[in-house]
Amino acid sequence: MIQFKQFTIREIQPGDKGPLQEGLGMLSSESRRQRFFSSRKNFTEKELKFFTEVDQVNHLAFVAIHNDGSGPMPAGSIRSIRDSHRSEFAELAVTIIDQYQGQGLGFKMLETLAAAAQAHQITHLYGDFHSNNIGILKLLEKYCRVYNIPPESFKLTRVGDGFLYFEMALA
Ligand SMILES: CC(C)(COP(=O)(O)OP(=O)(O)OC[C@H]1O[C@@H](n2cnc3c(N)ncnc32)[C@H](O)[C@@H]1OP(=O)(O)O)[C@@H](O)C(=O)NCCC(=O)NCCS
Repeated sequence: MIQFKQFTIREIQPGDKGPLQEGLGMLSSESRRQRFFSSRKNFTEKELKFFTEVDQVNHLAFVAIHNDGSGPMPAGSIRSIRDSHRSEFAELAVTIIDQYQGQGLGFKMLETLAAAAQAHQITHLYGDFHSNNIGILKLLEKYCRVYNIPPESFKLTRVGDGFLYFEMALA
């Protein structure tokens, strides 16, 4: 468990289904579109089970909870899912709820996830994002800058209509 400003970052638990659903409802339509590539407003029971009942080996997931004294509020989540063909690669997904963006929480969660991933022999994260998603691009670039990831170990490729694919080595 990590304390960062007024946030607690910890491994996701089965009991986080309610907060995860609540967090989705708190997201702006733009953030929803950037994360899910659609304007979805609810998770199904099956998805909630998949997102919260994880093994923390092949599917790593953390949540951030904000607590300013007026009660805990979901603030974000991050996960990586190991690629079935390339076991040292895992797909990254991260969401910080709009009101908590821009405070360094995304970076702290990425650091937390990256350290856990490395402990489970994951050497690279990858994923797709909208080419206008400056936030995720800046977040990944910051990780490379802070952890001295050489430029050749952060690959960006244009894929499909308006999407970028990245592959990034971990420190
Ligand atoms: C992308 C996202 C996770 C970033 O989280 P965050 O908590 O706002 O990021 P941080 O505050 O840790 O910022 C990390 C760095 O990126 C920069 N950054 C983040 N968002 C930015 C934006 N929209 N424009 C410019 N820079 C941005 C920050 O300035 C910081 O760099 P710095 O320390 O050098 O100034 C968050 O905006 C988000 O959840 N977006 C919606 C969902 C999404 O797009 N997910 C990614 C696809 S899976």
